[in-house]
Amino acid sequence: MFVYTSNHPAFFFNTRFTESTSAPNIGYLCFMATKITQDIKEAADALRGNQVIAIPTETVYGLAANGLCIQAVSEIFKVKQRPTSNPLILHFAHLNDAIPYIEDFNEELKHLYDLFSPGPITFLVPKTDKVPEQITSGSKFVAVRFPSHPIFSALLQSLDFPVAAPSANKYGSVSPTRADEVIAQLNNEIPLILDGGLCQYGLESTIVGMNEDRVIVYRLGSIDLDELSVALGYVPEINNQVDHNPLTPGMVKYHYSTKTPLRYLKEYLNPEENIGYIFISGIPDDFPKGQCIVLSSTGNLKEVARNLYHALINMDARGFNAIYIEKPSPEGIGLTILDRLQRATAKFI
Ligand code: TXA
Ligand code: MG
Repeated sequence: MFVYTSNHPAFFFNTRFTESTSAPNIGYLCFMATKITQDIKEAADALRGNQVIAIPTETVYGLAANGLCIQAVSEIFKVKQRPTSNPLILHFAHLNDAIPYIEDFNEELKHLYDLFSPGPITFLVPKTDKVPEQITSGSKFVAVRFPSHPIFSALLQSLDFPVAAPSANKYGSVSPTRADEVIAQLNNEIPLILDGGLCQYGLESTIVGMNEDRVIVYRLGSIDLDELSVALGYVPEINNQVDHNPLTPGMVKYHYSTKTPLRYLKEYLNPEENIGYIFISGIPDDFPKGQCIVLSSTGNLKEVARNLYHALINMDARGFNAIYIEKPSPEGIGLTILDRLQRATAKFI
């Protein structure tokens, strides 16, 4: 960190990140240039220094910090502008590394772990005292995840603490799936982005826990309901609505929101000027191509999922009066996409 006095616009008042330096914790002029790197060691050093940085995962980019350092964790909440009542996922390289932090890992969950981890699935399990309360917002349950992204995985293996990371968006906004989208939301607010390219899945992890002897889904995610059902031999209950689900406070009604009003495309709608259109697999003849994005030319829903957030962010930046998006079919990962779109469109209905 540089401490500097200048009237250059890139220099601004900042009271953050003073804990890890000898600078006094008061407002002073400083410059926090956000650097993009591919150097895992540089990212590891920043995390060891209790800094908050962005990291790539196979789902979306995360806003990461040492999950055992309360100061660093509270910095995540500040940068993300997220209420501290909304807990964070802890990321580990392997289940063995997580053992000291979890009280119990049910056999059904272990079965899902064996099938889908490392990968985009998160387990909500009873925690031990080693997990700071700030991570779980006071809950006795901690969310643990074992990512498959090779760069994040290598980073985790080089650390001797778990990494807390929510998605790297400002609270309520669309999650970034590439480094430049992190820059667009968090430039000059974090020192480093570890660039791992495009995210493979493009939607957040699936969150599962136990309800008595059955698996329950708290957040639909990149492992879809069909995959879970085949693995379990039954269709797990879904409990992802904020009204009946005090266990996962993050499942709010409005989320993943663009600034531009986002609505579902109605079949009878004619194209209009100054409206952006997002289609699943093809642009109808009478729609102007310059105003349209296609999520997958073959209609492959996994590709639709991978491109969805990028398309929303791209359209949002183009100054349209509104964005209309075609609904995917409610099957497989389509259910997860619909879950995200329901929250993303909710405040514009
Ligand atoms: O794919 C993902 O899971 C990404 C990447 C970065 O790993 N992370 C992510 O984190 O989506 P976040 O914070 O944006 O969403 C995590 C959700 C929130 O809704 C939060 O409320 C819930 O998980 N959650 C985390 N810990 C919890 C806990 N102890 N109890 C209940 N819900 C929890
Ligand atoms: Mg999020």
